Amino acid sequence: MAKVVLGVAVGVAVAACAVAALVVGRRVRTRRKWKRVVGVLKELEESCETTVGRLRQVVDAMAVEMHAGLASEGGSKLKMLLTFVDNLPSGSEKGTFYGLDLGGTNFRVLRVELGGQRSSFDRDVAQQAIPPRLMTGRSEDLFDFIASSLQHLVEKGNDSEQSPIIKELGFTFSFPVKQTSVSSGILIKWTKGFAITDMVGKEVAGVLQQTLARKGLNMQVAVLVNNTVGTLALGHYHDADTVAAVIIGTGTNACYWERTDAIIKCQGLLTTSGGMVVNMEWGNFWSSHMPRTSYDIELDAESPNPNDQGFEKMISGMYLGDIVRRVILRMSQESDVFGPVFSSLSVPFALGYASMTPLMAAMHEDDSPELTKVARILKDDLKIPDLPLKARKLVVKVCDVVARRAARLAAAGIVGILKKIGRDGSGCIRVGRTRSDTKMRRTVVAIEGSLYTQYTMFREYLHEALHEILGEDIAQHVILKVTEDGSGTGAALLAASHSSKSVDNVQLL
Ligand code: BGC
Repeated sequence: MAKVVLGVAVGVAVAACAVAALVVGRRVRTRRKWKRVVGVLKELEESCETTVGRLRQVVDAMAVEMHAGLASEGGSKLKMLLTFVDNLPSGSEKGTFYGLDLGGTNFRVLRVELGGQRSSFDRDVAQQAIPPRLMTGRSEDLFDFIASSLQHLVEKGNDSEQSPIIKELGFTFSFPVKQTSVSSGILIKWTKGFAITDMVGKEVAGVLQQTLARKGLNMQVAVLVNNTVGTLALGHYHDADTVAAVIIGTGTNACYWERTDAIIKCQGLLTTSGGMVVNMEWGNFWSSHMPRTSYDIELDAESPNPNDQGFEKMISGMYLGDIVRRVILRMSQESDVFGPVFSSLSVPFALGYASMTPLMAAMHEDDSPELTKVARILKDDLKIPDLPLKARKLVVKVCDVVARRAARLAAAGIVGILKKIGRDGSGCIRVGRTRSDTKMRRTVVAIEGSLYTQYTMFREYLHEALHEILGEDIAQHVILKVTEDGSGTGAALLAASHSSKSVDNVQLL
């Protein structure tokens, strides 16, 4: 009997030990997996590091590449495209002008009534999302679509379609275009998920002009501009100290006012103003000083345009969400804290190109103690249910690292432009250890794009980096000013200031 009791006791003890070992073993494995997930975050943080020293190297590289891109055609990844915009609206423009803005997720048509006095204009705007099938279909379908929207706006207004007076139009086409005049240019390549192959190499304004004629619209494309150029025009209309414009939205880019004698690749370029707006196409900028991760490399390889738009792929709204998705995917492969590897996480750009960034911003800025927004977005949009709080915190941290790197790189890009045009304070007189601000002129950079205007943390990180790089005494003279719908309105303003009724101010000797 005693033997039996002893046997049972030993059996129970063995079983208890086995269970304990199992529990401990599972805990150890869970802890190990969690450590691996935290390791993924740590590695991300390290490889996204943007110390001020590193940002200054990016600033220098940007200024150097700008010089190279102005010196010769193909001399740099920065195309530094001529725009033939040699004067910016002054505020004295009068009349009714149209704008047509194509280049992102949405498409806009506008009519602007200019009263001849700065700030006094009326606008009528219609906006539509571009059906995704038109972004990759035939050029004819896309142009038919935009011309019909314009037709509706004309019909809605008092201007009769049949009016014998030709209406002038500013066409904002926000892709790299080699301009041949202020009102014509050839599409170099598509970006931001557009891929209409029959359009590459074609004269963009000509295609629109033909479509307008086919629709019976009595309209003349007076200017063909990039959205950065429209933004600069509107910025300058309101504030004459505006020297550059930056867009940080679905894509990213910048333009600025350059002296014609600095545009060496175009010898003999003469303008009455002595200057011209240059479209940098900075989305394609690249420098080895940029902190690149394995996620960036994979994203690039799987994108429709590998080895292209390197700066844009680290900064703009189209890509940031996909970088975050890739990091979460890696984390979920490392640990079952995230549950099984969800198929929603595995497909590149599965969540649509631009739609992930508002979600990323919402997760990043969720300040509820339980991170309820994060939980809802992960469940509804990424189909990851019931993620524990500690894992939700990790997701927020990932958004933070990715957004911070992007914002700081964009700030470095802006300072690069300021350096190129001598507005970064480096030419200022030094008094002791501090720089005197006596020589620093007020410098305004017009800025647009949802990442900057709607993503508060992004905007704050950008400002913080700008101040770190420039130092407080210089940064106080640099103002980033948001313009409202500059890409469209600015094009209508430029149509006015470059109206065919005025003389051609640009000569190529
Ligand atoms: C385009 C630029 C444009 C920018 C912002 C980039 O992808 O190449 O032309 O200005 O996006 O929309």
